[in-house]
Amino acid sequence: MSLGPENTVILTGAGVSAESGLGTFRDAGGLWAKFDPMKLATPEAFAEAPERVLEFYNARRANLVDAKANAAHFALAELEQAWMMAGRGNFGLVTQNIDDLHEQAGSASLLHMHGELLKTRCTACGHLFTDKDPIEHSAPCPKCGETHRLRPHVVWFGEMPIGLDHIYKALEQVDLFIAIGTSGTVYPAAGFVQEARRAGAWTVELSLEPGEVSAVFDETVYGPATEVVPEWVAKKLG
Ligand code: APR
Repeated sequence: MSLGPENTVILTGAGVSAESGLGTFRDAGGLWAKFDPMKLATPEAFAEAPERVLEFYNARRANLVDAKANAAHFALAELEQAWMMAGRGNFGLVTQNIDDLHEQAGSASLLHMHGELLKTRCTACGHLFTDKDPIEHSAPCPKCGETHRLRPHVVWFGEMPIGLDHIYKALEQVDLFIAIGTSGTVYPAAGFVQEARRAGAWTVELSLEPGEVSAVFDETVYGPATEVVPEWVAKKLG
């Protein structure tokens, strides 16, 4: 019997999309085992070799077009629905992922703190638009017409994540914090569990294996997200 609101913040990482066929970064065979992030995922790399960076993101964008949400994504959308229907408190899903699988599964209160691969941004006028096609470096911005100014709307290393003010505000009043499929190696996301603990929240880690900050979680369940997340949600919604 819950005594009062159970404000909930969920943080997801690449592990939640792994079984949808999208690569993780630091597992065996992960993206950063094959590619050097410093040559592909920094503003300096883009300034130095825009075509190389665009080729990398265009390939990941093409790979994303056929990806489908999996049981973990759907279970999180179900949890959000139940929270909203029962008025059980605030619910926020913060994802480090740049795919659209949480949207496909129906998650609504969603924040992509590392941006979105299916969005292109003009660095001249700031125009942001959904774009499933490859970004051509010389293409003109559909809004301002400037050429050579389009980039993926993805947060690169050294850039500020999106929505941190909202995230920290939510973590101040959080009662339940769940980290799913993230290695806990990249800050500020890896520090969110500490903020949640400061707020007195119950903290849960659902992942394939322990990450860097697993020791501080109150509850940990390890296994594939498509099994562990639906099971955890079903138990919670008992
Ligand atoms: N089910 C659940 N968890 C899984 C699965 C799976 N099928 N497969 C892998 N994992 C877990 C791994 O155990 C690991 O803890 O997912 C995590 C993936 O970790 P990373 O590859 O480091 O991905 P992530 O934590 O999302 O990286 C954070 O780093 O490079 C940046 O911007 C990038 O958003 C990314 C950030």
